[in-house]
Amino acid sequence: MQSNAQHWDAAYNDADTTQLGWYQKEHAVSMDLISSCDGKKLIDVGAGATTLVDTLLSHYYEVTVLDVSSEALRILSKRHGNNMKYIQGDLTKKLQLGKFDIWHDRAVLHFLLKDEERKSYVENLESCIGSGGFAVIETFSTDGAQMCCGLDLHTYDEDMLTDLLGDKWTLIDAIRHTHINPFGGERPYISTIFKRQ
Ligand SMILES: C[S@@+](CC[C@H](N)C(=O)[O-])C[C@H]1O[C@@H](n2cnc3c(N)ncnc32)[C@H](O)[C@@H]1O
Repeated sequence: MQSNAQHWDAAYNDADTTQLGWYQKEHAVSMDLISSCDGKKLIDVGAGATTLVDTLLSHYYEVTVLDVSSEALRILSKRHGNNMKYIQGDLTKKLQLGKFDIWHDRAVLHFLLKDEERKSYVENLESCIGSGGFAVIETFSTDGAQMCCGLDLHTYDEDMLTDLLGDKWTLIDAIRHTHINPFGGERPYISTIFKRQ
């Protein structure tokens, strides 16, 4: 059976990344949320081959990207070389990530289907975002698609994300919006900012 890393490597291998379902050319919602947070040191988890990092770098963010797929990281490092840091890692395992002002996740949390995987995700988040820091978390919303890239999803609304993060975190903002994928499909998202107390 294919591992999670192999599944994602296969998705990125030789792919036209502009044709991946989650590809977006503009990052208005993500950038609006991120730029309203204090700090410039950011980790983008489940970064894939995102062009969000191009925008972040042009706005002088100090960017670290993390992904389970070494193929995705290869695509990013080809584009950005030493301008960013790269971590190959699985968010469902305990990771040593360092310290950041902002955690950004667009479309990885919703792939974690088991309680213990989500618990590890939150432990990794809390290991690198201290008091006063931010988590910008964007997932498919409960009223949208329940699968992506051939995988089942655990979708969210604001209350579910608030419950998952627990009482160390305060919900600052939540935006519902729809991503149109490259094939014209509508993918409703919930995008949130949480601040750590
Ligand atoms: C739908 S893509 C989103 C990519 C990117 N954030 C974007 O918005 O374009 C999900 C990404 O999460 C990564 N991923 C999946 N499971 C993961 C895990 N357990 N730990 C770290 N990354 C994971 C995949 O390799 C993939 O790049």
